[in-house]
Order: sequence, then C-alpha cells, then structure tokens
Amino acid sequence: MRIVVTGGAGFIGSNFIRYMLKRYPDYTLINYDKLTYAGNLDNLREVEHLPNYRFIQGDIADAGQVEQTLASCKADAIVHFAAESHVDRSIMEPDQFIRTNVVGTHRLLEAARKQGIARFIHISTDEVYGSLGAEGFFTEQTPLAPNSPYSASKASSDLLVQAYHHTYGLPVCITRCSNNYGPYHFPEKLIPLMITNALEGQPLPVYGDGLHVRDWLHVEDHAAAIDLVLHDGRAGEVYNVGGNNERTNLEVVQAILSQLSLPISSIRYVADRQGHDRRYAIDASKLRSELGWRPKYAFDEGLAETIAWYRTHTAWWQRVKDGTYRHYYELQYGSNQGAI
Ligand code: NAD
Ligand code: DAU
Repeated sequence: MRIVVTGGAGFIGSNFIRYMLKRYPDYTLINYDKLTYAGNLDNLREVEHLPNYRFIQGDIADAGQVEQTLASCKADAIVHFAAESHVDRSIMEPDQFIRTNVVGTHRLLEAARKQGIARFIHISTDEVYGSLGAEGFFTEQTPLAPNSPYSASKASSDLLVQAYHHTYGLPVCITRCSNNYGPYHFPEKLIPLMITNALEGQPLPVYGDGLHVRDWLHVEDHAAAIDLVLHDGRAGEVYNVGGNNERTNLEVVQAILSQLSLPISSIRYVADRQGHDRRYAIDASKLRSELGWRPKYAFDEGLAETIAWYRTHTAWWQRVKDGTYRHYYELQYGSNQGAI
C-alpha cells in the first residue's frame, strides 16, 4: 500500500509513520508536511534512511502542489493529520486555523476526488462535540457543538469530509480521538509542557482551578486505532477513539511532580483559558466492537515511559523550546497572564 500522510512531521503523524513502517515493512509512506513551528524532521530521524519513506515539503492549502503531489505519488490512501492543533494559539490568532484546517482540508478532498483515492482517513478530535458535564460520554451520535476556534475549524473540516462522501462517494472515514500523550509531543501541550518545565526547574502553569477533565490516550494506541480504521473501517463512518483514562489536569500535574520527586509548590495557578471546555470523555465502544481495538497502555505506565523519554531526549525538547517558542511562551504565560 502507498499512503500519503499529511502532517507527518508533527507529534501524532510522526508516531504513526514510525508505527506503520515497523508493522508493514512493504508499505510506502509519503510524508507531506509544510513544516510549521510544530513540524520537526528530527521526529523521523529513525526512519528517514528507509527506501520506502519519503518526505515532501508542502502546504495542504496549496491546491496546485497538493494535486501535483497526489498525481505523482499514485497513493492508495491518504491519512490526513495536518492541522493547526493548539487551542490556546487558536484563541490568540484564529486565521491560520481556518486556512489550514478548513481550506486545506477542502483542497485535499478536492485533489483526492480528482485522483480517485481509494481511502481517505480524516484525523479529527473529540473537541468537535463540545464540553460534557460531570456525567456521560461522547458517542459518534453526539451532536457537533465546538467551542473554540480550533474545534470549530475541525468540526467544519469534518462536515466537508462527510459532504464529499455523501455527494461524490469519496471513501472517507473520520476518527475522533481524545487527548494524546507520548514521545515527540510538542511542549506547548499540557503533559510535555509540565514535564519539561519541571525538568528545567520552572513553574508549572495550571489554568483556573485545575479541575478540567481530559481523557488521555497513548499516541501508540491512537496509531493502532488509525491502522485498523485505515484497513477495515466502513466508508462514511465516524470512529471515536479514547482510552477511558479520565483525569483532572491537577491529577496529571501532581502525578508528574510525584514521579520527578518535586513539590506541589512547583504549580503556579494562572488565569483560565477563555471558553475552557470543562470535561471530555470518549465512548470508544464502536471501535472496540467493530474493529477489535484494545489500547495497550495503562495511563500511569504510559506517563512514566513518557517522562523517561523526555529525561533522555533533552536535546530534542531544548531545541524545540528555543527561538519562536520563547516568544509564544511570553505571550501566553508572560506578565499579561499573571499568577492568580
Ligand atoms: P501537531 O501540531 O503536532 O502537528 C501538526 C503537523 O501538521 C505539523 O507537522 C505541521 O507542520 C503540519 N501542518 C500544519 N499546517 C500544515 C499545512 N498547511 N500543510 C501541511 N502541513 C501542515 O499536531 P498533532 O498533535 O500531531 O495532531 C495531529 C492531528 O490530530 C490534528 O489534525 C489534530 O487536530 C488531531 N488530534 C490531535 C490530538 C492531540 O491530542 N494532539 C487529539 C485528537 C486529534
Ligand atoms: O481532546 C483532543 C484535543 O486535545 C486535540 O484535538 C488538540 O489538538 C490537543 O491540543 C488537545 O487539546 P487540549 O486543549 O485538551 O490540550 P492541552 O494540552 O492544550 O490542554 C489540556 C488541558 O490542560 C486543558 O484543560 C487546558 C489545560 N492546560 C493546558 C496548558 C497548555 C493547563 O492547565 N495549563 C497549560 O499550560
């Protein structure tokens, strides 16, 4: 199988490429990525020498380049990760989220339709469902009710993907996953930010009361789910992916501090995220019963492995935390946010 992976230099895309090349040595994986601040070819050093891996630098919103790439690659499938992915950045500057997540997805769908691509897997998020109260889970039937510019752009792209299936018969599947964690996670997101700040002796900025709940899934379990949907998912269907690992942010941060033998006083409570969704929790029973998916990682074990990875890959995250990252960090956590 020849697979074009968009956004393959990011966190989940690079983990997916490594997973697939290991599991299917006879497949060809073509990574099409713009290399934004979040794209990093260091994530793929282990596989870049392989003859069945290829990198093409390109923008999904560039219709000409997308069409040319798909025409030349003769791909059987597209797995579409490329996106602007960070909620806080979408609150600061939404424009790029609309351009990449909505317009870019549309350009890709159009090119896929013209090429007659046999499989289009759209990687979406549980955030399209909005926020839950204390009880209940998101199912595939939960109405879309996105709250942030990021999640609204992802919901918009989901609707376009579904429209291309309904109108043109494009064989699409959509996956909607909960929060991922694991190696190569960009340190703007909660877990890698907290681990790397702790290792640097910096304060750990928790938004609001810290009682917001996320449902954590190891990135390798997500890659395994996408693998199943790619091969056996029914065209036109949505599959939720989640690990039943609900934790408050405070519980996650406390677990990191405890594993690093650091005091709770390292936490700095800061102003809450605007429009902050209170709780996400996924019902993944469709993926389990239809495709036999089972997550491998218990959260505590996955978190310990992840902390160990960041301890032994300081050069990777120190490089990432330099340059433009510092500017973003100052804007997000500097004097205008202040401790509360
Ligand atoms: P990421 O920010 O780490 O990586 C995004 C990648 O997309 C980067 O390599 C970037 O260079 C590339 N990219 C951005 N704009 C592009 C463009 N216009 N053209 C081509 N490439 C472009 O993101 P991630 O955390 O790996 O998330 C990947 C996908 O999974 C996203 O679609 C996201 O919405 C979804 N998702 C993420 C999570 C999570 O917890 N991180 C959970 C569920 C779903
Ligand atoms: O649910 C899936 C989504 O998970 C994906 O679609 C997004 O791409 C991904 O970024 C993630 O979104 P979240 O907003 O849930 O993840 P983030 O790591 O930014 O935040 C997790 C929780 O931690 C959230 O409640 C906000 C809080 N938080 C985050 C940061 C960065 C803090 O308290 N402090 C922080 O500094």
